Amino acid sequence: MSFKILITGPNLAQNAVDFSSEHGLTLIPTQPYMAPDEMIALIQHEQPDAIIVRTGKLIREMIFASNNLKVIAKHGVGFDTIDIQAAAERNIPVTIAVGANAQSVAEHAFALMFSVSRQIAWLDQRVRQGHWDKSSANGVELFGKTLGLVGLGSIGRILMELVAPFKMKVKVFDPFLKNFPQLDYVEQETDFNHLLKSCDFISLHCPLTNENRKLFSYEQFDLMKETSILINTARGELIDTDALIDALQNNKITGAGLDTFYPEPPEASSPLWTLSNLVATPHVGANTTDSRNRVGLLALEQILSVLNRQQLEPRAIANWNLLPN
Ligand SMILES: NC(=O)c1ccc[n+]([C@@H]2O[C@H](COP(=O)([O-])OP(=O)(O)OC[C@H]3O[C@@H](n4cnc5c(N)ncnc54)[C@H](O)[C@@H]3O)[C@@H](O)[C@H]2O)c1
Repeated sequence: MSFKILITGPNLAQNAVDFSSEHGLTLIPTQPYMAPDEMIALIQHEQPDAIIVRTGKLIREMIFASNNLKVIAKHGVGFDTIDIQAAAERNIPVTIAVGANAQSVAEHAFALMFSVSRQIAWLDQRVRQGHWDKSSANGVELFGKTLGLVGLGSIGRILMELVAPFKMKVKVFDPFLKNFPQLDYVEQETDFNHLLKSCDFISLHCPLTNENRKLFSYEQFDLMKETSILINTARGELIDTDALIDALQNNKITGAGLDTFYPEPPEASSPLWTLSNLVATPHVGANTTDSRNRVGLLALEQILSVLNRQQLEPRAIANWNLLPN
């Protein structure tokens, strides 16, 4: 039997396209970030069996636009752009590609730590403009410093391992963690304020939820060390952007490395772009050939499992708790 899979965004990586042909799946890629009305009309027209969410939001009206829809797959893990409640009302599971992009995002967070601590992006820009800041530029080493991880899931764990050769001490704040790693350089921190006060680097690796929106605002930046560096490859809304701009402008913290923003993209006129102690990338933490190959394939395998009524592990289904039994 042939199934139709609509993709909100460009087509999948070649290995996943090949897998689709082998399994009789028809892929329907679309323009990235299509206007909601156009996307609803397209879904109504195509009546797909599955939707893979790559760009933009998947809202209630889109989920209800196909009578054939049986599964939604996130091309990644951050499912805050999908109305998982609306999907559950139609008994549609929303799958996430657990762990498939974690290595790439962890490496990106690590790269941002270096880039901010050694002013790499800023100095690159300066050299290109004809400056030679050899006598004024200054940085800090990662070696021996304390790294705070907010969230120790697939990505946080890899970053924890990546920093080990740098003899960093790692403090973990994750209230939902069941298995804490038994490593001598890693310790659990249950007091969030203490994490803020004691870390040289803090890197965010938790999902965005209604409870942790603006986890970092004025109060939190006031508690952080003036020498500290904040890294966010998780979700922009975890940080109050105005408070971050204030903290960076007034040297409440030393710097920030951001891959995610709120809103995305930020306004061209945002004061963010005037800050020399900010390193920014456009939500590309998972954008590697390796990660795309794994994520696209896993999304299709999960879709096939649901369509063939095979069980998936609960961790792979974002709306597991909301689905009727
Ligand atoms: N920049 C990118 O391109 C990119 C790519 C992939 C994922 N992400 C983001 O990274 C996040 C983490 O991804 P992952 O694969 O490691 O997810 P994961 O589900 O494996 O791990 C998330 C961890 O966060 C913990 N957590 C939940 N709420 C928390 C809170 N309020 N405070 C502290 N910890 C909390 C959970 O217990 C879990 O251990 C995703 O939710 C997504 O938003 C970004």
